[in-house]
Amino acid sequence: MGRVQDKKVVITGGAQGLGACFGRMLAAEGARVALTDVNLEGAEKTAAAINEEFEGAAVAIKHDVTSKDDWAHALGTASEFLGGIDTLINNAGIGVAGSIETETYENWRRTQEIDVDSIFIGTQLAMPYLKDNQPGSIINISSVAGLIADGMMLSYNAAKAAVWMMSKSIALHCARSGYDIRCNSVHPVFTRTPIIDPLIAMGGGGDEGEKRLVQQIPWKRLAEPEDVGYCILYLASDESRYITAAEFKIDGGITAQ
Ligand SMILES: NC(=O)c1ccc[n+]([C@@H]2O[C@H](COP(=O)([O-])OP(=O)(O)OC[C@H]3O[C@@H](n4cnc5c(N)ncnc54)[C@H](O)[C@@H]3O)[C@@H](O)[C@H]2O)c1
Repeated sequence: MGRVQDKKVVITGGAQGLGACFGRMLAAEGARVALTDVNLEGAEKTAAAINEEFEGAAVAIKHDVTSKDDWAHALGTASEFLGGIDTLINNAGIGVAGSIETETYENWRRTQEIDVDSIFIGTQLAMPYLKDNQPGSIINISSVAGLIADGMMLSYNAAKAAVWMMSKSIALHCARSGYDIRCNSVHPVFTRTPIIDPLIAMGGGGDEGEKRLVQQIPWKRLAEPEDVGYCILYLASDESRYITAAEFKIDGGITAQ
């Protein structure tokens, strides 16, 4: 038996980076996973790679998380494939750089839409599935940027802080309603995925750009996707059955400073 044996998991933004890593790690521990992404081709490649190792464990679904219709379709398709949904990982996200003087309203809105509004729309639509398949777990991927600020991360800071507090509100509602559905937020530091390429480029690119990011982290290395994945595995499993409304910092100590 795996740690998440027969769990029925939806992962948004599952084509690459953290979402793809979560899919593989969960499948390796017995879960079945629906990888949804606006990038269908990427999600299909990732699902095929997972299925090569763990036959029938993964499916890819086209899904723009800003669209309510897409959410309804993605959840319905995922539920058919998985036989229900008991775990929702709200992982899709973007990060754009900009200060209060340089950020555009379009970038601000787009960031809130993809990183925050999507979690409201999607989790609301997922509630009936989660209620039908208890115990359930909602895992929202925030960031250390939801806890500590940077002058150049205006929209992202605001979005990820909203995800942090929204997770607690969802958790309290579920607990007080008597649902066996937990909700927690996860806050990674710079993690080796394509999303940090622009940050590495801003620092001069290559090893030099990476060094500038690493210097900020007490643990003195970037996080690897698996470092975050082990936390996801715990939160998706029944091992975390009493954990709700909590925040998990996978941050090499950066927020302690
Ligand atoms: N990598 C890091 O350093 C880091 C740190 C903290 C938090 N995070 C968060 O982790 C999550 C995953 O990021 P990642 O590092 O894997 O980045 P990534 O860019 O590698 O992957 C993000 C995925 O989300 C998908 N996506 C983007 N917009 C979408 C939309 N509208 N609908 C559906 N899918 C969409 C992309 O196609 C992509 O597959 C994000 O929420 C990000 O903010 C990442």
